[in-house]
Amino acid sequence: MSSIKDIISHYSAQVDAQLEAMLPAATGPAEPLFAAMRYSVFNGGKRLRPALCFAAADAVAGSDANTAKVAAALEMIHAYSLIHDDLPAMDDDDLRRGKPTCHIQFDEATAILAGDGLQSLAFQQLCELSELDPTIVVELVSTLSRLGGCSGMVAGQAIDLAATGSVLELDALKVMHAHKTGALIEASVLMGALATGQASQEQLGALKDFARAIGLAFQIQDDILDVESSTEQLGKQQGSDATNLKSTYTSILGLERARSEAAKLFDQSMEILENFGEKADPLRAIAAFIVKRNH
Ligand code: IPE
Ligand code: IPE
Ligand code: MG
Ligand code: MG
Ligand code: MG
Repeated sequence: MSSIKDIISHYSAQVDAQLEAMLPAATGPAEPLFAAMRYSVFNGGKRLRPALCFAAADAVAGSDANTAKVAAALEMIHAYSLIHDDLPAMDDDDLRRGKPTCHIQFDEATAILAGDGLQSLAFQQLCELSELDPTIVVELVSTLSRLGGCSGMVAGQAIDLAATGSVLELDALKVMHAHKTGALIEASVLMGALATGQASQEQLGALKDFARAIGLAFQIQDDILDVESSTEQLGKQQGSDATNLKSTYTSILGLERARSEAAKLFDQSMEILENFGEKADPLRAIAAFIVKRNH
């Protein structure tokens, strides 16, 4: 089996080409907006959501040109969420992927608009899928709006803000993490599978459970890295959660228990994939990377 680095670069090359084709060129009267959108998409993200989308498609039937479009839509929603997450009104962070955050590089108004623009472009991208049953297109739009919006990521960010400065119970913390981070990861896996047009209800059910386990593990690892990594390694300010008085897995459970929770969720995710055979190996490798990554 290929290394995780090869798996991610193979998928990233395809999504990057699609993003390049989809994002407006930074020219004309709205040049700063388009430049800010491009800056925030092409500044070195790990492309994990696109990778999960491709790997889920491969686990079911094989990825194709539509997979790249769906993956691009997911990455645009992710990039928008990070631009807004870094704003002074939210986490007030100056560094992202080793570079100034969007509102520092441009200005706050442009950063807000860049997030807005990326969000609507993501849905436009889904409307431009080719040769796919229209009911599947509607299901993709519905999944992304539900899990990226106020039943998912946006609600999670609101819960995060409301909880800032207070100490959440573990169950409430799980709800917050499942929304703010887990939901878009769930969307990535489900939409990759859905866009093949060949996923059975049973496969979709298993992939949903897999994504929920790995999505929570992803945010636990993000919380751990905020404590034990460095600003240089992360490309974002280490210790930002503590500075902002955020409830995190490490602030509530401590590092060791946070680590064992992530490991437990990884084991669960592997059991869930048992029936998928070797077509799901890239998905397994990405799940392993999620809990082992150091940035
Ligand atoms: C960071 O996500 C934001 C969270 C949801 C925790 P990633 O760690 O996937 O960020 P990039 O895209 O690689 O920068
Ligand atoms: C952000 O969570 C989640 C979203 C952007 C939806 P964090 O605030 O923990 O992400 P980082 O640590 O700034 O990347
Ligand atoms: Mg945040
Ligand atoms: Mg943040
Ligand atoms: Mg974080």
